Amino acid sequence: MSNKLAPSILAADFANLGNQVKAVVEAGADRIHIDVMDGHFVPNLSMGEPIVRSLRPVTKLPFEVHLMITNPDLFLEEFAAAGADTFIIHYEGNNNLHRTVQKAKLLGKKIGVAINPATPASLLETILPELDLVLIMTVNPGFGSQHFLPLTLPKITQVQAMLHHQSLHAEIEVDGGIDATTILMAHQAGATVFVAGTSIFKSPLGITRAMEQLSTSLTS
Ligand code: DX5
Ligand code: ZN
Repeated sequence: MSNKLAPSILAADFANLGNQVKAVVEAGADRIHIDVMDGHFVPNLSMGEPIVRSLRPVTKLPFEVHLMITNPDLFLEEFAAAGADTFIIHYEGNNNLHRTVQKAKLLGKKIGVAINPATPASLLETILPELDLVLIMTVNPGFGSQHFLPLTLPKITQVQAMLHHQSLHAEIEVDGGIDATTILMAHQAGATVFVAGTSIFKSPLGITRAMEQLSTSLTS
């Protein structure tokens, strides 16, 4: 599977969001990662449907909406109408995960399930055939700019083996603390989609060179 970069706009300059998205698109982004936080599921607030709607005309690239919220079912329709292409929902705290997955599919959207660093990969076994994507959180969700947690690496390899065992082709994505060093570690473990916020939008090299550096690391 080819490697994909998904810049996370959580680290972007919000006063200049449209241009920041244009910049990552021009620099070769494969999709745009949009972190939605509600102050309950994670101890932070971020953005909601109006941001997705406002950014939709800026690019044709897929928008993946990472829902770090309690009760994601209540919001799928409005995010779908605003222009989301993929939903990433969390395993944790969702007593009816399969229902949420089905709801996203009925809306015609791709669906991924995310697991936090302390959640075992094996818990995904039953839902795996329903998924387009598995997101292994490489930090605890809620904030950008945290350190990558190496304890999550074996879970990437474990998910890869589970997919192989069931002859499935869901993508394996990582999110949190991804930079020019950790991207290679995650890739070697089996990830092919890489979310990066701080290392792209806050890089002293600038967006274009920062993204080039991430891509170069993958081929080194
Ligand atoms: C964390 C979010 C991430 C975050 C990653 O809860 O899910 O997408 O933006 O940011 P960096 O790349 O700065 O760790
Ligand atoms: Zn995210």
